[in-house]
Amino acid sequence: MIQPQINHTIFKTIAQIASELNVQAYVIGGYVRDILLNRLSDDVDIMVVGSGIELAEAVAGKMGSKKVKVFKNFGTAMFSLEDANGRLEVEFVGARKESYRSDSRKPIVEDGTLADDQARRDFTINAMAFSLNNSDFGTLIDPFGGMNDLKNKIIRTPLDPDITFSDDPLRMLRAIRFACQLNFSIEPSAYEAITRNAHRLDIISAERITEEVNKIMLSRKPSVGFIMLEETGLLKKFFPQLQALKGVETRDKIGHKDNFYHTLQVLDNIAPNTSDLWLRWAAMLHDIAKPATKKFEPGIGWTFHGHEFLGAKMIPKIFTQLRLPLNEKMKYVQKLVQLHLRPIVLSQEIVTDSAVRRLLFDAGDDIDDLMTLCEADITSKNEEKVRRFLKNFQLVRQKLVEIEAKDRIRNWQPPIDGEIIMNTFGLKPCRQIGLIKNAVKDAILDGIIPNDYEQAFGYMIQEALKHGIMPLTNNSGN
Ligand code: CTP
Repeated sequence: MIQPQINHTIFKTIAQIASELNVQAYVIGGYVRDILLNRLSDDVDIMVVGSGIELAEAVAGKMGSKKVKVFKNFGTAMFSLEDANGRLEVEFVGARKESYRSDSRKPIVEDGTLADDQARRDFTINAMAFSLNNSDFGTLIDPFGGMNDLKNKIIRTPLDPDITFSDDPLRMLRAIRFACQLNFSIEPSAYEAITRNAHRLDIISAERITEEVNKIMLSRKPSVGFIMLEETGLLKKFFPQLQALKGVETRDKIGHKDNFYHTLQVLDNIAPNTSDLWLRWAAMLHDIAKPATKKFEPGIGWTFHGHEFLGAKMIPKIFTQLRLPLNEKMKYVQKLVQLHLRPIVLSQEIVTDSAVRRLLFDAGDDIDDLMTLCEADITSKNEEKVRRFLKNFQLVRQKLVEIEAKDRIRNWQPPIDGEIIMNTFGLKPCRQIGLIKNAVKDAILDGIIPNDYEQAFGYMIQEALKHGIMPLTNNSGN
């Protein structure tokens, strides 16, 4: 059976040159799986019984691709191809038989046969190959029933799952990631093996773990993956702060909601509205400080005062631990976490212009993302309540548009900055400068004075006098 996708010239060329070099070649792994699932894929793995490097160089030469990257130590070589349909990364590897030592990810590798190579792969659906040999070009070689598992939507290991997972513990996360991405279920004995081997995740680097976690985050229903991560005991190994959200405490017959499941619901809610990884991370982390701020206050119930501020503070440590970037993406997530209650508070009160201006000023260009996050944060089971909240948010959104059109606050800089204050009063950097600057900014945002330099300057002088600070006599204020 020739699949239409392996009609690409690259596969014909590989077949021709493999025959000239007298080696066998196969396309194997994720590319085969994705062809059979009708998914687009641009990473092609070619497995060669013989030298992968030699075949890669000969094929690249013939296809006019000059740059072949060779990794001698691993016996692999790769190049990329570009045509009208896009870009293809093609990697060539010699067939391998591998085993891993229990204390390390570094495998002991020996040359192997096609069958050895297929058996050492993670899942039956990733162990299928199409022949690229002239005698049976395009034949599917599927020794472990991968095709059947694709049809039945099952993640299963080719070998005993204890062996497959202890060979490379990252595969436990991959099983959950594929199940979540593809909407498959994990075969029960493999699932039990994950629970049994969860402690082995310790030898896996945070980078590799996070790569899988991000794929779960970006799937259509991330909760499915995180519930499995928690249930199998993997989650607490790499993300104890999320694990800590799980559970409900009851006092005086009053319980609080389970913040783990609430957070996952928020992630699922936001998924259809954004495929931005960082907005999804903000959803994941919005309540992360709830366990640390939780209090039972008699007569009031459970409170989580300041969880938005502490949550924003916890983020650098979490990003470091997960090897997420410590750059403007992190700052964006911190900002959304810190502001996530503001639109809710707004929607519960009469929406004043000054509150809207403040929110616009603090959120800046991220205001729409903040509103998307807050809408996703409504997880009440009471439909009437949800309808009311969403309607209020609609009003807030409308008001945001009106005020922005009128006052242009989104990227606004107050007219009085620290420099002006220092020059006017002859001050060296000190706490009072910040106080005066904020007072002027607040007066404008609250509509006490208009957004105008002269008026702001006068207000600054008044504020400074309150602190006993006098202007230098020769300062004209311009
Ligand atoms: N593989 C494996 N064990 C791993 C990683 C990969 O057995 N820990 C094998 C699988 O056969 C897999 C192939 O290597 O199909 C390619 O791996 P990779 O490119 O990481 O993943 P894909 O399966 O292609 O899936 P995706 O592109 O979605 O990551």
